[in-house]
Amino acid sequence: MHKPDDSRINLADENATLELAARLAAQLQPGMVIHLQGDLGAGKTCLVRGILNALGYTGRVKSPTYTLLEPYHASGLDLRHFDLYRLQDEYEWEAAGFRDEFDGHNILLIEWPDKAPVPPADLLIELEILPLGRCAILTGNTAMGHACLKQL
Ligand SMILES: Nc1ncnc2c1ncn2[C@@H]1O[C@H](COP(=O)(O)OP(=O)(O)OP(=O)(O)O)[C@@H](O)[C@H]1O
Ligand SMILES: [Mg+2]
Repeated sequence: MHKPDDSRINLADENATLELAARLAAQLQPGMVIHLQGDLGAGKTCLVRGILNALGYTGRVKSPTYTLLEPYHASGLDLRHFDLYRLQDEYEWEAAGFRDEFDGHNILLIEWPDKAPVPPADLLIELEILPLGRCAILTGNTAMGHACLKQL
């Protein structure tokens, strides 16, 4: 179930995902927390890659599958891309010291956010795999998240 003010966006192909990413990139604010949900291969990393490229980042954007975290600096913004799918347990979480990254300044883009006690989302992006393409459901949970969706 989704709230009536959710916005659903059809993404026919990868280019559509990258276009949405570019629109999101233009609305990012320091400290923003974005949760990315969806099955394996739904397009979460693809969306992050699109955001970084739209911000002018020209390096390789690799999935933090094993590192769990990849840091980026682009267009004057500090971004932290997490993929917590392979996080083992709370001990690994504590040892990793990721809490230091939740400083209210870094923009957090978090795949598999339910695996750890990460900060709550300003913006939740759910990606659904359709027979053809994907569907994105965007939900704003805070004033910052609502503002982002309004400008999208
Ligand atoms: N709108 C779309 N329609 C069809 N294919 C898409 C669309 N957007 C992205 N893709 C493709 O879907 C795949 C998504 O892979 P990606 O690594 O981004 O998934 P993921 O959600 O990060 O998975 P994981 O949970 O394993 O990290 C890529 O091959 C990409 O080309
Ligand atoms: Mg991924």
